[in-house]
Amino acid sequence: MKFFLDTADVDEIREWNATGLLDGVTTNPSLILKSGRNIKEVLAEICDIVDGDVSGEVAATDYDTMLSEGRALAAIADNICIKLPTTLEGVRACKTLVDEGFKTNMTLCFQPTQALLVAKAGATYVSPFIGRLDDMGIDGMELIEDIRTIYDNYGFDTEILAASIRTVNHVKDCALAGADVATLPPSTIEKLVKHPLTDKGLADFLADWAKTGQSIG
Ligand code: G3P
Repeated sequence: MKFFLDTADVDEIREWNATGLLDGVTTNPSLILKSGRNIKEVLAEICDIVDGDVSGEVAATDYDTMLSEGRALAAIADNICIKLPTTLEGVRACKTLVDEGFKTNMTLCFQPTQALLVAKAGATYVSPFIGRLDDMGIDGMELIEDIRTIYDNYGFDTEILAASIRTVNHVKDCALAGADVATLPPSTIEKLVKHPLTDKGLADFLADWAKTGQSIG
């Protein structure tokens, strides 16, 4: 399973990239706003830091402007992935941009039929939003499971990029369901490695080690 960082904060991206665990980055207009940076400048900086795919989202909703914005974003760096909304215009723009050789990430996917359409359009990634469905009392994980089954039934190559992840259990369940990628806010990725018994066990071992009076190396 690949891990993407869901942020436009370059300091956090640098920090997580140094762990060697980062496979890419996703951004969206809200994250660009939060960064306070110019979209092209910040995406260029992120693409410089990270080797993997970096999603930059178009702001247009009509086919022609989505194409021109998508091409402008893709010109920033080779590892830009053009993020488009899962609307009919967006799916159409996806097909054209994929035919031109660009990578695409279809965002705001909330039902399996949307995922089916974007796969038919040749999208590189589909981004089902788990947390926002959970917020409405709908099981977001069922969406991941349904998309996995549909993609496997027909051998679609589109990767399932689980988004709107809020908890460690979301990550575990996505991994069990066979999502290809999880995009995580830095606060969630940090929690993946934490367990109180790990901390307690380590403190006990270190205390006993100190009593041995030994040193290694
Ligand atoms: O990048 C899109 C997605 O991860 C947003 O998450 O928490 O705003 O629903 P959230």
